[in-house]
Amino acid sequence: MFSKYLSTALISLATLRSVHGASTPKRRATCAGGQSVQNEACCVWFPVLEDILPNMFDNECGDDAHGALRLAFHDAIGFSPSKGGGGADGSIIVFNNTELTFPANSGLDDPINVEVPFIQAHNVTPGDFIQFAAAVSLSLCPGAPKAGFMMGRPLPVAPAPGPDGLIPEPFDNVQVILARMADAGGFTPTDVVALLASHSVAGADTVDPTIPGTPFDSTPELFDTQLFIEVQLRGTQFPGRDPGQGEVLSAVAGEMRLQSDHLIARDSATSCAWQSFAGNQAAMQSAFAKAFNKLAIIGHNPANLIDCSDVIPGAPPLPASMAPHLPAGQTQKNIEQACAASPFPTFTAQPGPATTVPAIPQS
Ligand code: HEM
Repeated sequence: MFSKYLSTALISLATLRSVHGASTPKRRATCAGGQSVQNEACCVWFPVLEDILPNMFDNECGDDAHGALRLAFHDAIGFSPSKGGGGADGSIIVFNNTELTFPANSGLDDPINVEVPFIQAHNVTPGDFIQFAAAVSLSLCPGAPKAGFMMGRPLPVAPAPGPDGLIPEPFDNVQVILARMADAGGFTPTDVVALLASHSVAGADTVDPTIPGTPFDSTPELFDTQLFIEVQLRGTQFPGRDPGQGEVLSAVAGEMRLQSDHLIARDSATSCAWQSFAGNQAAMQSAFAKAFNKLAIIGHNPANLIDCSDVIPGAPPLPASMAPHLPAGQTQKNIEQACAASPFPTFTAQPGPATTVPAIPQS
């Protein structure tokens, strides 16, 4: 956790680059590195990009990229029209002494520790940096859509309300999660399912702390639709000795299934949306990008922000060898059909002995 000194230092440094759309000229510009952007205010982000790709993320869709994506969600979702909070405002960093005590934020000290030195070095607001880093992290995950990025979030004025309630937990039921997401950002049930595509590049460190880095699907380095296929399979095992709170049986050795993902895949409000993304990379990409761009500006008036999406690189496509599939050892019969409107799409199992997924290497 951070000292008061660090939070104060972040506040004073970041004041310099708390840019607001309304006061910044809008014209196409060429940045010092030769890049062309819609708005010259966006040029400050190229040095940040060139620094964090190799030095923060090691140019890979690994633990730090996953952590940056989760951090962006937990900062943004801390908002409610009735309870307050600033949304995507960087409060999770500036007021980390408060927000990291919320149980739902367990484990986020890691990505915060990783990000703070880069925020200080580049003198940008924590709210902007968190969302920028998440958008850039996606560009490292093959198969991810290109996320947008808006700059201009001012410094946060207060911590998000807590400790319980605003951040979904894996042991919350579907109605609670859908209501929370609707309240925070007007997300529809389909938006929520689309946002969970992020769990295709993810794992858990704290649900079962004895097995850190346990992935949620068999391809945590790819932003693919395997999560939507694998969570629909009948669960048979836990990756650790005892299940953690909010964990249910998973179908694949070495893989963890969150109860929330499991229930959302099977609830009548969400199961058809869940099924619609299984094997449909294009539909999943476009629904995720739309919902994620909305998430990134919770708590802000877009008219006060500058669109710097042209700074964000696109991700490589999925490798041709990674078509949607059942993990080895599975059959279509193990799919637990939930959507009443149409059958789950058919997939072929990979050949060979039953898949065992290795843990995600920890940074
Ligand atoms: C809405 C319901 C959601 C619930 C209940 C939920 C819950 C969780 C839990 C329990 C973990 C494991 C944390 C740990 O033990 O380390 C996790 C990881 C993660 N979540 Fe979610 N999540 C939700 C939505 C989202 C959304 C909307 C995003 C992003 C847009 C997201 C991104 C991630 C990522 C990237 C990780 C992996 C972090 C890492 O590997 O370090 N989640 N989530």
